[in-house]
Amino acid sequence: MRVIVESTPNEVARHAARIVADLVRRKPKCVLGLATGSTPLGMYAELIRMHREEGLDFSKVVTFNLDEYVGLEPAHPQSYRYFMDEHFFRHINIDPRHTHVPDGRALDFDAHCQQYEKLIRDCGGIDLQVLGIGRDGHIAFNEPGSSLGSRTRLKTLTAETVRDNARFFGSEEAVPRLAITMGVGTILESRQCLLLACGSSKARAVRDTVEGPITAQVTASALQLHRDVICILDEQAAAMLARRDYYREVEALQSRLEAARRARAEG
Ligand code: F6R
Repeated sequence: MRVIVESTPNEVARHAARIVADLVRRKPKCVLGLATGSTPLGMYAELIRMHREEGLDFSKVVTFNLDEYVGLEPAHPQSYRYFMDEHFFRHINIDPRHTHVPDGRALDFDAHCQQYEKLIRDCGGIDLQVLGIGRDGHIAFNEPGSSLGSRTRLKTLTAETVRDNARFFGSEEAVPRLAITMGVGTILESRQCLLLACGSSKARAVRDTVEGPITAQVTASALQLHRDVICILDEQAAAMLARRDYYREVEALQSRLEAARRARAEG
């Protein structure tokens, strides 16, 4: 796992957006896996800025979101479809038909989940999966105890996640208890994963993910099995990492190597 520690959430957002934008420029028809929640908001804002000011072109990009609440209409202000439209899609030149979010109103959930997986495969698989992390170490809605081989399916949210997400719904009672979520196994098939975390409330989950044992009790820890994961953290989220200084050293050397490579390429 490559661990990058930035000084502020703003820097995390800008760095993440640079990685997404590089991929979109290199591979205009790329497939992005996207997350909702507070964490990626700054990254979306920066990508929107790059679209407006630098002409970053999303016209051929395809997206798949990680999850959706069961029972919410796409027009419901707390649905993840609505979130994505509001915070990202309607501000860029992406073709709405290329944007996929699981449908929380599906009648046959098993069929819908299998269809979602098939669609990902038919599009060539996910090139880059953006992830946030829950305080309990979940990725997507893969709550503690989820199989590390799991696929897209229905999942019951834990009381902790319901409490955390009540801030968007006004009350805990209003938060749906069920969600459709990509599985840990689905996520691990992405070619690259970009895990973002900010704030001290994520420090324990980040430590367990990066330096703890691989366990279904912290589903993000399964990312240790993936060969290409970039973790971008702010100082607070990185605060409990024992090897923080080492990660900094690696990044400093990496930047020097990249600068030397660029200088050689430029002649
Ligand atoms: C959202 C998702 C969740 C969030 C996580 C952190 O699509 O899959 O796993 O990434 O709950 O949420 P925030 O960013 O709001 O702290």
